Amino acid sequence: MAFTIAIDGPAASGKGTIARQLAARFGYAHLDTGLLYRAVGKQMLDGRDPLDAAQALTPEDVAGEGLRTNAVGQAASRVAALPEVRKALLDFQRAFARRDGGAVLDGRDIGTVICPEAEAKIFVIASPETRAERRHKELVEAGHDLSYDEVLADVHERDERDMGRADAPLKPAADAVTIDTTALGIDEAVARAIAVVEAARG
Ligand code: DC
Repeated sequence: MAFTIAIDGPAASGKGTIARQLAARFGYAHLDTGLLYRAVGKQMLDGRDPLDAAQALTPEDVAGEGLRTNAVGQAASRVAALPEVRKALLDFQRAFARRDGGAVLDGRDIGTVICPEAEAKIFVIASPETRAERRHKELVEAGHDLSYDEVLADVHERDERDMGRADAPLKPAADAVTIDTTALGIDEAVARAIAVVEAARG
């Protein structure tokens, strides 16, 4: 039976961690949909046409190295504003969402466009400064050399593009539950998300 948990929110809000932990807790499959756009964005940086890249995307591309850099995140946000690219990635995401056995998808438009019928929808937010701090720490730990201010500027730029685009902009579904992780530890944020899912499972 299908049961879909849709997790949406801006960059570095904590939605990826929450999605992974929900998937482990309930034994559902997990798809980080940002990786699809990152894989296309990376190929665009390598000189490939983004629509060709989206249409020919393979699991190897999505599992590839080097997708979690700031430059690739920016490129992902740019290709994600192209309606044809979004369309090319739609069927795969919809099929994943409705697979048997349950699925957790995290991204920007899961509850609004990919799976409006999702049984549980969570919108994860945090202040831009908190998100920039978390992302900066992650990037520095992964060996990247960039300042907090650069990361904060990047967060603002991606927020504006992801919320401002015409096609599938980042926004909460009308029936999503919002979790603000600004002042929450990860365990507390996950506990709240689990409560939302358990209420939906009945
Ligand atoms: O979640 P992330 O930072 O890995 O996502 C990278 C970019 O991909 C993000 O800035 C916007 C885009 N994206 C999207 O438009 N729709 C999704 N469902 C997931 C990501």
